[in-house]
This record gives sequence, C-alpha cells and structure tokens, in this order.
Amino acid sequence: MVKAIVYHSNTGHTLAYAKILGTNLKLPYYSIKEAESLLKKDDEIIYLSWICAGRITKLKKVEQKYHVKYIGAVGAYPKTEKYLEELKLGNQINKPFFYLRGGIDYSKLNGVKKRVVKIVGKTVPKEDKELSALFKNGGNFVKEENLEELIEFIKSEKKK
Ligand SMILES: Cc1cc2nc3c(=O)[nH]c(=O)nc-3n(C[C@H](O)[C@H](O)[C@H](O)COP(=O)(O)O)c2cc1C
Repeated sequence: MVKAIVYHSNTGHTLAYAKILGTNLKLPYYSIKEAESLLKKDDEIIYLSWICAGRITKLKKVEQKYHVKYIGAVGAYPKTEKYLEELKLGNQINKPFFYLRGGIDYSKLNGVKKRVVKIVGKTVPKEDKELSALFKNGGNFVKEENLEELIEFIKSEKKK
C-alpha cells in the first residue's frame, strides 16, 4: 500500500501538485528531507519531482531508498506523447509515469538556473507564442485537472 507522496520541488510547482494529490488520495506528502525521518526503507511511495535538463531530479536517489510505485514529472514544456516518451527513455522508466505541466517562476530561481532557463528560452521558435511567452515572462500551468489521469490510474489499481 502506498504510504505517502514524496516530492522534490525547486520553485513550488511540484509542491503544489503534491498538495493537491495528497488531498485527493488522502495521503501525506513529504519533501525528501522530511521523508528521511517519517518513512522507512522500501516503503511504497508516489514520487513527484521537477525536470531539469531532461532529468527527473533525484529519481535514482529516491528509488534506492523507497519502492517508487508511480512517478509524476513536472516540467515547463507542454504535454505531448513524444515528450513523454523522451522523458521515459531518458530517465529509464519502466513503471507508471505521468507528466504534469508546471511553469516558470523567475522570482524564485537563483542566478545560474535563471540564466539557463533564459538560454533555453532563446531556442524556442517565435511561432510558438505560448511557450515563448512562458520563457520570457514566466507562468504557471499547475491545474488540478492535470492530475486526473494519475489519480484515476491509482484509484483503478486500488480496486484490483
Ligand atoms: C535549470 C532548469 C532546467 C530545466 N529543464 C527543463 C527540461 O528539461 N524540461 C522541462 O520540461 N522543464 C525544464 N525546466 C522547467 C522546470 O521543470 C519547471 O519550471 C518546473 O515547474 C519546476 O518545478 P518546481 O517549481 O517544483 O521546482 C527547467 C528549469 C530549470 C530551472
């Protein structure tokens, strides 16, 4: 049985998803640090984390300690089948995996990360107005409905 949601968030989008998911599934949500004292090795968890340069941050570290049953990855790009496949391949994922769109909050990014995001933003084609605006001004795409697929999947597995 899943004991908790463990999350890793840099600027708050992943934390926001962890809160909504926790409320929906009636599960506690812990940062990796909090989980250290509240969970035991091999406890079943849902892991939510932000994507940095294609990597689901701290995934391998968390998988060494807990039994990660489901993964939710939070990134800035729009959700497409192609992007999901890229993430699964790049992060060697062979378990239920869900992509959740987060956002960009420049006010919470430190100098280096802010510069990296600005550089990546320059590679976005101008025709892609929504993505260009996100990289230029920041923005937040966190929505409860983005979690629907993950919630339905977990609920349906529980019934089995
Ligand atoms: C240095 C850096 C690299 C990033 N690389 C990616 C990426 O490869 N793919 C993606 O979808 N989003 C990328 N993002 C966007 C973050 O994943 C996005 O802002 C996410 O919502 C952050 O979640 P958080 O607020 O919980 O930290 C990157 C952000 C930063 C700061």
